[in-house]
Amino acid sequence: MGQKGREIVKMNVDELINLLNKALADEWLAYYQYWIGAKVVKGPMKDAVISELNLHATEELTHANLLVTRIVQLGGTPVLTPEDWNKLTNCGYDAPVDPYVGEILDQNIKGEQCAIKVYSALLDITREGDPVTYDVILTILSDEVEHEEDLQSLKEDLDLMLIRR
Ligand SMILES: [Fe+2]
Ligand SMILES: [Fe+2]
Repeated sequence: MGQKGREIVKMNVDELINLLNKALADEWLAYYQYWIGAKVVKGPMKDAVISELNLHATEELTHANLLVTRIVQLGGTPVLTPEDWNKLTNCGYDAPVDPYVGEILDQNIKGEQCAIKVYSALLDITREGDPVTYDVILTILSDEVEHEEDLQSLKEDLDLMLIRR
């Protein structure tokens, strides 16, 4: 990173890089959970759910890109090996072993709620110390809030359909 770019970071950079790498591990696991979920999901409203899962997968990958760009700018090394995803993750990985739509929606809602918690803590940490990272995190957090909302509204429609059948 350029000298001036480094000067404006008023917090422990190694600590920040570590937190960004943990978030990067989350994004990769979230990407795969959505992507594989879209392949195996079964049940009512399957088509609507598949397109939402695929859209979210794409957006999680965009988040991974944003995080890596910032990690490299800060002079850090992004997670280099898949084995580290499980070691670093905050939110873990829920395998879609039960392919029923309702179950997959619940798993991903849980994941989004964890992501919202993680990014909102990162916002607090970077607010004063690193405005550039703050901006990146805010962009990602806005998407995660939208993701939670989209999944919850699909789940609501599914529940209504089953009740009023
Ligand atoms: Fe994400
Ligand atoms: Fe998300």
